Amino acid sequence: MIDENSETYIRDLKKEDRELALSTDDLHVWYGEHEAIHGVSLGFERFKISALIGASGSGKSTYLRSLNRMNDNIYGTKVLGKIMYRGLDINSDKIDVYEMRKHIGMVFQQPNPFAKSIYDNITFALKQHGEKDKAKLDAIVEKTLKQAALWEQVKDKLHTSALALSGGQAQRLCIARAIAMEPDILLMDEPASALDPISTQAVEDTMMELKDRYTIIIVTHNMQQAARISDFTAFFHHGNVYEYDDTKNIFMRPRIKLTDDYVSGHFG
Ligand SMILES: Nc1ncnc2c1ncn2[C@@H]1O[C@H](COP(=O)(O)OP(=O)(O)O)[C@@H](O)[C@H]1O
Ligand SMILES: [Mg+2]
Repeated sequence: MIDENSETYIRDLKKEDRELALSTDDLHVWYGEHEAIHGVSLGFERFKISALIGASGSGKSTYLRSLNRMNDNIYGTKVLGKIMYRGLDINSDKIDVYEMRKHIGMVFQQPNPFAKSIYDNITFALKQHGEKDKAKLDAIVEKTLKQAALWEQVKDKLHTSALALSGGQAQRLCIARAIAMEPDILLMDEPASALDPISTQAVEDTMMELKDRYTIIIVTHNMQQAARISDFTAFFHHGNVYEYDDTKNIFMRPRIKLTDDYVSGHFG
């Protein structure tokens, strides 16, 4: 079952003629002198959920943050290699990063609602981008809260503070806020790790709800979660990807011994 001779197995979805929403080609990331990502090439299929798994410190967050240039905000980082989105290398200096992030949104580990009303959390960025039509904003608030499975719980208190929401509700609000910009791609870094099991379930339900319309790339250290929700899984170790394949292969029939050791709980 395990090919002891090969060291990595990276499924090339492009060769299979899959429609890729995003891909990286030989991506390297340094923090100062420390190279945290050593040339990762992966393609993410459109309208699928792809999970990034691996031990703490293996580079999952660093890689994910690169995908919409969040590492630009960290002093001393250098990101080399291509990040291809709709035929454009978005790692190029010529890219308007602010504009690009409307297409590639992000949800963080800790729910981070603004100290504003639920309604204003969702409409803030849209207003910044010039949307003034109240009926349109109302419709977007309702639609995104429904997509994030939060509407029924908050529809009567849209103008109260988002800071009063529970952790799970706040995270779903952050998802609604991210999708209000109608991104193509949603990056999520352990979106449920700060949540209790019931809220985790709600966030997972939300992701399943969204997957027909969005391409989702999620970091998780919860392997049951990766197995439950994702279509593809990449196994990170020491800043490299050792195996990338259908999620069921990664968990049931990994080709690489290191992956097998990790998913069967021998380290990490
Ligand atoms: N802001 C940072 N500055 C310097 N080093 C960092 C920073 N963030 C992460 N690292 C280092 O990069 C490596 C990968 O970290 P990270 O991407 O956070 O891994 P993971 O998300 O898999 O736990 C680790 O060695 C970590 O210490
Ligand atoms: Mg991380």
